[in-house]
Amino acid sequence: MEQQAPTTAIPPGTGDPNDIYANPPDATELELEAGHPGLGDEVYVERRRALFAICREARLRNEPPPIIDYNDEEQRIWREVTPRLDELHHRYASSIYLKAKRDLRISEDRIPQLRTLSQQLQGISGMHLVPAEGPIPYRTFYTYIADRGFPVTQFIRHGSKPEFTPEPDMIHDCLGHVPPLVNHDYAALLTQIGRAAVAVPTGDKVLALKRLSWFSIEFGLIEEAGETKVFGAGILSSIGEIPNSLSSNVERRPFVTDEVIETDYDPSRMQDLLFVIPSFAFLRNEVENLVRRFGVPITT
Ligand SMILES: [Fe+2]
Repeated sequence: MEQQAPTTAIPPGTGDPNDIYANPPDATELELEAGHPGLGDEVYVERRRALFAICREARLRNEPPPIIDYNDEEQRIWREVTPRLDELHHRYASSIYLKAKRDLRISEDRIPQLRTLSQQLQGISGMHLVPAEGPIPYRTFYTYIADRGFPVTQFIRHGSKPEFTPEPDMIHDCLGHVPPLVNHDYAALLTQIGRAAVAVPTGDKVLALKRLSWFSIEFGLIEEAGETKVFGAGILSSIGEIPNSLSSNVERRPFVTDEVIETDYDPSRMQDLLFVIPSFAFLRNEVENLVRRFGVPITT
């Protein structure tokens, strides 16, 4: 089944100088940041440029994620990292996440094709995956989310440091972000965050939504049968953050929205403060209340 194109047209440009639609970069402009493990590896850089071009074109054409013929080195990295994460997931991850990963049949043996995952999601929760060449501008990203599309990368980290990536890659996206998208409450609250992020003016409200997302979508914890479990993508895709998040290194507080949106975070270091939700239904309710307060209508 072909993935349906988003029903909302993505804006051609917002006036933001960083907006890829206003200033589309050439594929050869891909630059790895200072300190990236792939810097100096021409084979890796060329591969990244090729994937950048393929994914960017598919995204701008509103096409589903392209089928990628992953090479042996990419498959090796996937096989090295995912069993280690999987073991940690079975000990620490939310049961909702574990069931979703099983239902989506995300394998430790082979890199999944995002097109297949997208088709599965569409049948379960009405979400779909949007091919992303890398990080995309804030409002563009949330325009896709508002239209029930989650932007996902299709490149993998460098093989010299398989446990580390300085940027979101497909291990982060596939093993962190994709599984919770099967949950209807999660899909609804995420979509609502997207609609609000697109609607509110730049400033305090955008900052509040970023903090809300950080402490839930990326670094959220959930209470399950008297135990605290992990559901945030930033934790679930990190061999270090999973045990850290439930250790004595971290202060864990009940998720109180007014407190969360006033709390700053630092993405450059291990986290030492996290918030715990009682359920996705609770979080959905909190998001909807906040969005209403921001003057954005709730759509179901
Ligand atoms: Fe993420």
